[in-house]
Amino acid sequence: MFSALDENEKNIVIDAMEEYKISVNDVVIQEGDQGDCLFVIGSGTLSCSKIFPGKTDPTFLKAYQPGEAFGELALLYNAPRAATITANEDCLLWKLDRDTFNHIVKDAAQRRREKYEQFLSQVKIFETMEPYERSKLADAFCEKRVPEGQFIIREGETGNELFLLQEGNAVATKTLQAGQEPTQVMEYKVGDYFGERALIKNESRAANVVATSDCLLVSMDRHSVKRLLGPLEELLKRNFEIYEKYTASGQ
Ligand code: CMP
Ligand code: CMP
Repeated sequence: MFSALDENEKNIVIDAMEEYKISVNDVVIQEGDQGDCLFVIGSGTLSCSKIFPGKTDPTFLKAYQPGEAFGELALLYNAPRAATITANEDCLLWKLDRDTFNHIVKDAAQRRREKYEQFLSQVKIFETMEPYERSKLADAFCEKRVPEGQFIIREGETGNELFLLQEGNAVATKTLQAGQEPTQVMEYKVGDYFGERALIKNESRAANVVATSDCLLVSMDRHSVKRLLGPLEELLKRNFEIYEKYTASGQ
């Protein structure tokens, strides 16, 4: 949320933040209410839940840890609070008012969304998303440059990010026979994604991904993938059958 701000803007935001202490079981945000601030967690944990259409009981969505922010959606999209946030214990929060948010953070977040708009429209996997939902993805993007020949992902490592190729080309290679050189199993061009498997299956990285030219990547962490791409999970799994072929024949 704040990664698009420059130093000066960050300082203005920090100055505007007010300490907000809450006790265990306090409801900080109630789904459906109007929202006039967002919160950053200083200490303590909170739970986020939401009542989905056709249901009466809330569904647990996620736990919030210190350092995370919530309550930004109502300010970004001028919408009612989309979920309920309750304190699991006594917490220290930092509250940011709507005015500062509108003047400083919203513009930067807006610029960020515009910057990625064109790229996002080229990503096939996002074609089915509402343009509005798609624009939210930009808030979660982290940019990374990887020079030609370097590894973006290493087989066997723990993976916490999904990558999208914004510029350049890359290939996936996989060790099909123990002790032998990895074999090329996939090629990637602009708009392609990889690194989804470890996140969806909760397993280690199943292949290497190597930059075959200088690459500009955007990554999304596990939490953002779950929150923002949850509804696309079936689409994200569409390469799994291809992956299985390599495992079945070679290992
Ligand atoms: P806001 O709608 O202002 O208030 C509720 C907050 O819950 C929301 O902003 C987000 O910060 C947070 N939240 C976390 N996960 C979700 C989700 N899946 N849907 C909606 N809000 C969520
Ligand atoms: P992940 O296992 O997270 O990290 C390596 C990525 O390489 C993997 O996700 C897929 O996105 C991609 N990949 C391409 N080809 C294969 C393959 N044959 N088997 C497994 N992963 C593959």
